Amino acid sequence: MQEERILSSEDDTIIFAKELAPKLRKGDVLALYGELGAGKTFFTQQLCKFLGVTENVSSPSYVLMNEYVGTYIIHHLDLYRLDAAEEVLELGLYDLYENAITIIEWPEIANGMLPKNTIHIYFEFIDQNRKVRISRK
Ligand SMILES: Nc1ncnc2c1ncn2[C@@H]1O[C@H](COP(=O)(O)OP(=O)(O)OP(=O)(O)O)[C@@H](O)[C@H]1O
Ligand SMILES: [Mg+2]
Repeated sequence: MQEERILSSEDDTIIFAKELAPKLRKGDVLALYGELGAGKTFFTQQLCKFLGVTENVSSPSYVLMNEYVGTYIIHHLDLYRLDAAEEVLELGLYDLYENAITIIEWPEIANGMLPKNTIHIYFEFIDQNRKVRISRK
């Protein structure tokens, strides 16, 4: 699966999240790539809303991980501040996947620890716009 779409406004991101949410299943892992401010957290906030989370979803940059409960248990991670794969292991990444939906911002450092069927989502700036590319094996 490969798909690309332009996200020229927050509303576009909201529609994208709304379309993706009902396709997700327990055990799914989403890896969100993209530079600072590309829109990873904003997308996650919208996705969580469409997955039934009512509480405020904040950026996990400092706490590394937040857990929410909606239709599913949702783990929201941001690995930006980690600089070794061992630190990812210490987080217990593998144990998080089961029985939940796991969303990972800055997933590069966990590259070898993502399930095969991870949904990779790349957020990019193009001109004044944003673009998103979705790929899943
Ligand atoms: N499609 C969009 N169009 C316009 N603005 C957007 C869009 N998506 C997100 N934004 C805005 O961009 C800003 C930064 O977004 P966000 O915090 O989600 O980035 P991020 O990728 O999580 O960054 P970081 O790497 O620092 O965690 C937010 O103010 C958000 O509202
Ligand atoms: Mg973020």
